[in-house]
Amino acid sequence: MNTVELTRSPIRQLSAQLANQIAAGEVVERPASVVKELIENSLDAGATCIEIDIQKGGLQLIKIRDDGHGIPEQEITLAVQAHCTSKIASFDDLTAIESMGFRGEALASIVSISHFEITSRTESQEMAWQWSNTGINNSEDNALTPASHPTGTSIVVRDIFYNTIARRKFLRSERTEFRHIEDVVKRIALSRFEIEFVLKHNQRVVHRLPRALTTDLKTKRVAKLLDKRFVQQALRVSYQASQLSMTGWLSNKDYSRGQTDMQYFYVNGRIVKDKVISHALRQVYQAILPPGRFPSYVLNLQIDPQQVDVNVHPTKHEVRFRQMRLVHDFVNHVIQDSLNKTNSNHRYGGDAFVFDTEEQAVTEHQINKHAMAEASSRYSGRAHNHYPLARNKPASSAEFYTQKTHSTSLPQGLLGTVVGFCQPYYLLSQSQQGLVIIHLLRVAQHQAEQQWLQQVDSQSVEVKPFVFPVSIELDAQLCESIDCHQDTIQTLGFDLSLQAKNILVLRAAPTVLQHCSYEAVIRQLLISLNLEETMGWETLVPLLSRFVQLGTHSESKTLSEWQQHLNDIEKTFVNLCVDAPYKNKLWRVLGVAEVNKLFQANVSAKLVDE
Ligand SMILES: Nc1ncnc2c1ncn2[C@@H]1O[C@H](COP(=O)(O)OP(=O)(O)O)[C@@H](O)[C@H]1O
Ligand SMILES: [Mg+2]
Repeated sequence: MNTVELTRSPIRQLSAQLANQIAAGEVVERPASVVKELIENSLDAGATCIEIDIQKGGLQLIKIRDDGHGIPEQEITLAVQAHCTSKIASFDDLTAIESMGFRGEALASIVSISHFEITSRTESQEMAWQWSNTGINNSEDNALTPASHPTGTSIVVRDIFYNTIARRKFLRSERTEFRHIEDVVKRIALSRFEIEFVLKHNQRVVHRLPRALTTDLKTKRVAKLLDKRFVQQALRVSYQASQLSMTGWLSNKDYSRGQTDMQYFYVNGRIVKDKVISHALRQVYQAILPPGRFPSYVLNLQIDPQQVDVNVHPTKHEVRFRQMRLVHDFVNHVIQDSLNKTNSNHRYGGDAFVFDTEEQAVTEHQINKHAMAEASSRYSGRAHNHYPLARNKPASSAEFYTQKTHSTSLPQGLLGTVVGFCQPYYLLSQSQQGLVIIHLLRVAQHQAEQQWLQQVDSQSVEVKPFVFPVSIELDAQLCESIDCHQDTIQTLGFDLSLQAKNILVLRAAPTVLQHCSYEAVIRQLLISLNLEETMGWETLVPLLSRFVQLGTHSESKTLSEWQQHLNDIEKTFVNLCVDAPYKNKLWRVLGVAEVNKLFQANVSAKLVDE
């Protein structure tokens, strides 16, 4: 019997201070979030120089000084109250946000969890005015005092979370907190080249970044903040379409990293982590980088503010595109095309490539419907809107164990029951014969080959036409040879034509090749055809199928999805009686005796120790 009595307190309105502290929970996670909000305010105020002064990782002091337009005397006390903003006035304004802020809650939140002081002066005022909450709980009543300050604003935040001890406990060492602050400054400085930034820590200048208005100066700033080697090989991107444009730097296949720490993608100057965009980038790079290696980039997408909703999350790191599909394909195309042109004049400087997205004049409704269908099928391969996890993300142990318990109830076929996926492309299962290791990449290539051969044979090649054709730069001689080989090229399912002396344009390719670098495939195709004019599709299909890569969603599959995949492999291969030597290339079975052998040496060593 339940003996606990539920006591109920009467409903009451929260004090402004408490409400702001609750809001601060969302906006202010750590000193770096304060720095982000304050710099964004300076940017919105049209500053050209922003100085950031930090003491003790921001735990003791954060001071941001700008030369923006300032706040008029009579508005300073309003600025620090919740829901007070100069950036929007009506709901309609929300549909086309051009400023970094608009929610009117950052200053109020910061005021509620710190000792706060603001000094500001507009150009028309003769002196500056200062407001602070120090020592007084109900800060709104606090009066202004005159102060000396040039046009612009300085904000000082001391003792962050002094009154919300629980939050302070979550903070890390000074060094770690400063690293987060440095990251924030870096992120902003890599998209706002027209602004000078000075970052100091404990009175020492860490970064002094003068304004960078030319491409050369911008490149220098990127080199200073990221890695010189990245900039040395980076491709400079500058693309323009009717509704979208993209500029920045991206790494080519010769430069990759073991982590995703140098990936900066901005939408209208705002850094975002967006799944549609990540997918568009990953799709291109996974075809040219080995598993576990990641590209680096600094890219800024400019899009009509009406086409993007930034009011998705309080920290505004997430956005929602009204035309998801269009943005995905644009980004994908620009990256693919830039990489294809590695050797052309795209390196630094960059030429404007203009194409007309009006061709895609589909109604918003159609696009959304299409995009949603895409999101649930192509991007994720799942029925619900779940995007693939980053390549290489190891499953957490909790995930692993829950998955493991599921697996016991799964049906067991000849290849057994899946126990897990192992990077870069192995599937492990347990059968009656022992441990089975399946080489998923070879399986995928073999499946593609079989499917393609069968389709060509029955003259029914499934073809994927591209929304944006892919330009491929090759030797002029190779390019010219396509005329002699058009029959074979078309039989295989490619729509390939000559665009310029050394540029081919690919408008469609066989669906089985969807996870390939098209450039590599076409190069191989033409080289082979030129080496041996009579080479037929029976030889070309197995050769070109070697370029097939694994899809993007391997890491995000659940065990039951893997089991389904394994059952499909079994149906294709086991039932079709693939011959034994070939099977050995696709999977191996380790019997208990073999596994025991692996440990033999260790066991005897241990016994000797004991
Ligand atoms: N550095 C600054 N320079 C000029 N005005 C500022 C500055 N910081 C804040 N403000 C003013 O204070 C208001 C409130 O700021 P904030 O709480 O960050 O809300 P938001 O940026 O969402 O409007 C802003 O709308 C702006 O008018
Ligand atoms: Mg703001």
